[in-house]
Amino acid sequence: MFTVIIAKDKDELAKEAFKVMKEYLVPGNVLGLATGSSPLGLYKLMIEDHQQNGTSYKDIKTFNLDEYVGLPRTHRESYYRFMHDNLFNYLDIPEENIHVPSGVGEDLDGQCEAYEKMLDENPVDIQLLGLGSDGHIGFNEPGTPFDSITHVGDLTESTIKDNQRFFNDLGETTPTKACTMGLASIMKAKKVLIVAYGKNKAEAVRGMLEGPVVESCPASILQRHPDVTVILDEEAAADLNEKH
Ligand code: GLP
Repeated sequence: MFTVIIAKDKDELAKEAFKVMKEYLVPGNVLGLATGSSPLGLYKLMIEDHQQNGTSYKDIKTFNLDEYVGLPRTHRESYYRFMHDNLFNYLDIPEENIHVPSGVGEDLDGQCEAYEKMLDENPVDIQLLGLGSDGHIGFNEPGTPFDSITHVGDLTESTIKDNQRFFNDLGETTPTKACTMGLASIMKAKKVLIVAYGKNKAEAVRGMLEGPVVESCPASILQRHPDVTVILDEEAAADLNEKH
């Protein structure tokens, strides 16, 4: 079940997303978090709210969706680092409450299994998602089975290309794999909040909301979730045919 909110711009979108998130910022809750540019406005508002209203994260746990394979936590482009730079460093959340899949180690499959087990022990109250232009959520690229749990997945050419800009100036090759929560892991969240802006998301947004539920559009699986709030700007909503 979708609730769709169309905001006039990026700032409005962040405010609407914060209104939804705020309800979940209570002791004992588990937040599923995402990287990418889409959640950044929301993260700024969470930081502001913590600083101005004293909302505490001492008893909140977080689980991130994904991490690039091959990047240690200390790498400038790791998602672990992204989350600290853009959110965690400004909150009072204890480090042991923060969970980000690891992209390095001897036994990545075993690590993914352990991550899924932790998710089962700490059911996510609200899962925040961005949307890839090819319809991916987390790093579940088109073709990922709907019953997938946390796993190592290959990135598509288009995603690798989208990400090249972050690695080019480092003279490094762009990662081609990621550890990601699977589609079934994401679907276990009690509530899903997905944010997308810009015209390059319009087609994926239409696929998610109006297309058939098919593995070629991973986000379309959300049509089977009981409680999803979708927040879009006008450009991302431009290709929708139906009224939502
Ligand atoms: C990456 C992340 C996704 C994110 C997507 C879109 O692929 N793994 O979680 O949703 O990028 O990023 P952006 O929000 O920058 O468009």
